[in-house]
Formats: sequence, structure tokens, C-alpha cells
Amino acid sequence: TAAVLVDGLGRRARDLRISLTQACNLRCHYCMPEQGLPIMPREELLSADEVVRLVDVAVDDLGIGEVRLTGGEPLIRRDLEHIIAGIRTRHQNLPVALTTNGVGLARRAEGLAAAGLSRINVSLDTVDRELFATITRRDRLPDVIEGIDAAVAAGLAPVKINAVALEGNLGHAADLLQWCLDRGLSLRFIESMPLDADGTWRRDEFVTAAQVLTALGERFELTAIEREDLGAPAERWRVGEGPGTVGVIASMTRSFCGACDRTRITAEGRVRPCLFSDDEIDLRAVLRGGGDDAELAAAWREVTWRKSPGHLPVDVLTHPTRPMGAIGG
Ligand code: GTP
Ligand code: 5AD
Ligand code: SF4
Repeated sequence: TAAVLVDGLGRRARDLRISLTQACNLRCHYCMPEQGLPIMPREELLSADEVVRLVDVAVDDLGIGEVRLTGGEPLIRRDLEHIIAGIRTRHQNLPVALTTNGVGLARRAEGLAAAGLSRINVSLDTVDRELFATITRRDRLPDVIEGIDAAVAAGLAPVKINAVALEGNLGHAADLLQWCLDRGLSLRFIESMPLDADGTWRRDEFVTAAQVLTALGERFELTAIEREDLGAPAERWRVGEGPGTVGVIASMTRSFCGACDRTRITAEGRVRPCLFSDDEIDLRAVLRGGGDDAELAAAWREVTWRKSPGHLPVDVLTHPTRPMGAIGG
């Protein structure tokens, strides 16, 4: 078989996202319940060696061209640098990115860069300290800002900022954009998806990308940037005359499922082809049962072949079983 990973609808997965833990030090209400997700015993999680092994299979047998490490909060893993270094030793040119909330990043940015991390996305919904504490249920904005500064200083460019569009931060969206422009950071607003743990997402309440653009348009001159990659989730705008840009990821109102090129692995080692479908396959069992690379690749292909066409239209969409924190953002 050719080294590709395709589904029954002809979509090819090139982008692998691996969740390293469900644990997190924040409690964003669109992702985590107040008490956090159940704590997974360490042996349930993929070990560093297992993660590296799966990346080998993904790259060598399935043609994956880019890896993103997520969570939960991936910095919770003490062995994150070790995982990155393990991947980097075997795949010198593979882009390896990290999606993090930035808490504790200040102390780790340099080590992550040294281990071979290519780039980093930091989730930040507002630079208003009180609002940040309301959204995340934790007063950690200063840590996050320190983390972002450290990532830039460590040369992890481009640092991208992801903000979930919410009723609460819509009025602060322009401030966040100005803050990012001042630092040369690229900001993207994301429509919230029904992946919260409390089931409080409401189809008639989520803030749309169009609303965000209207709010930003009151302060900034936005010019659409021609999309090179129509499958890419973000649509981007140039801001004023400067070099800065802003993007929106309209996962709900302009679904990009038809061009989805992602495959994901949950923290306990299950391949989950689609955020919105609970159809998964247990790769950890194959790994720990002594399966060879061909068997791992075959299981991965099997569940991918059945990959769901994507989420249903917003007016009939339902919540999958796992919340975002248990899938990997
Ligand atoms: P870049 O490669 O830097 O553009 O990052 P990315 O968009 O792949 O990764 P990031 O983790 O920054 O994801 C941005 C947001 O897009 C996430 O926080 C999710 O809200 C959303 N997202 C990520 N993956 C998927 C997906 O498979 N389907 C949908 N509908 N949304 C996704
Ligand atoms: N809808 C959209 N994005 C979400 N994220 C977490 N939960 C949701 C949701 N319900 C985003 C975070 C972060 C990434 C890990 O996933 O803001 O950018
Ligand atoms: Fe943690 Fe990210 Fe979920 Fe917020 S969105 S609770 S930072 S995993």
C-alpha cells in the first residue's frame, strides 16, 4: 500500500494531532467542567516512547506531513520536551507544533525550542484580566502573557493566538487584536463548537465569525486575503496598512469538513478521525499487544476509512460524547 491515509470519501489525512493529556490547569467553560475531567492514571496515557512510535508509523507508513501536540494542556506533561526531541531525532524536517494555554510556558519555551519544536499556538480569549479569570475560571493572565513573550524570545515564530469567540469577549475583540498587532502575533478567532463538557453550548447563542468581523471592522480596516489553501480552516484579513493579519475559523457557519485533512489521537491512544464522531479505534491496545508497524497502520487505516463526513448543520447538530478537553483541541 502507498504511504497515505485516506477515508471512504476520498479525503487524505496529512495533519496528525496528538493529545498528550486530558488534564488542564485552566477550566475554560467551553471545554472543561468546573471540577476538571477525570484524572487518568499514568499507565492509561501513551508514554513518550509510544507517542514517538506512533509518529513514526504516521510519517513512514501513512504519509503524515505535520504533527501537532495538544491536550488538555500538553505542558502538564513533564516529558513534553523529551517527546519532541524523540520525534525530532527521527524526523529532521517534520513540522512539529504545539497548542497550549501558555500557563508555565515562560519556564519551558527555550527548552521546547531546543528540543526541536517548530511553532506554537497559544489560546488566549482576552487580555482583560478579570474577563480572562471569568472565562477560564483561573486568574492566570499574567502567566500566559509571560509565556507568550518567552515563546517569541525563544524564536518559536510565528506564535499564533487562538481566541474562542464568546459573548463575553466580543466587546474586547478589538483590544485583543491591537495587543497582538503590537507584538507581531497572528490572531485567529474561532467559532465555539458544541464540545463543552457541561452541554451549555446553544445553537442560537454562539458568536459567529461574521459578528467578530463586524466588531473588528468598527476599529480596523480589514482587507480579505486570497486563500491559497481552500481547505485551511482560517480565513484571513490584512489589518489596515500594516503587516498584521487577523483570521477567523468559522467551524460552525462555514464548515470545512469537506476538506478535512486531520487525524487525531486521544490521550489514551485511540484514533479519532473526527471531532464530532465517537467512532474510534484503540491503537494503544495494538501497541501494547505487541503489534508491529503494519498492524498499527492497518488499524489506523480501518477507522479512517469509516470517517464521518463531518458535523451536521448547526440547526440539527448534537454534542458528541467527549468534550474538547478529552479529544485534543
Ligand atoms: P495552524 O496549523 O497553526 O493553522 O493550527 P491549527 O488550526 O491546525 O491548530 P489549532 O490547534 O490552533 O486549532 C485552531 C482551532 O481550530 C482549534 O482550537 C479548534 O477550535 C479548531 N479545530 C481544530 N481542529 C479542528 C477540526 O478537526 N475540526 C474543526 N471543525 N475544528 C477544528
Ligand atoms: N469550541 C471551539 N474551540 C474550542 N477550544 C476548546 N474548546 C472549544 C470549543 N468548544 C479551543 C481552545 C484552543 C484549542 C485547544 O481548542 O480555545 O484554542
Ligand atoms: Fe484547558 Fe485549553 Fe480546555 Fe481551556 S480550552 S480548559 S486551556 S484545554
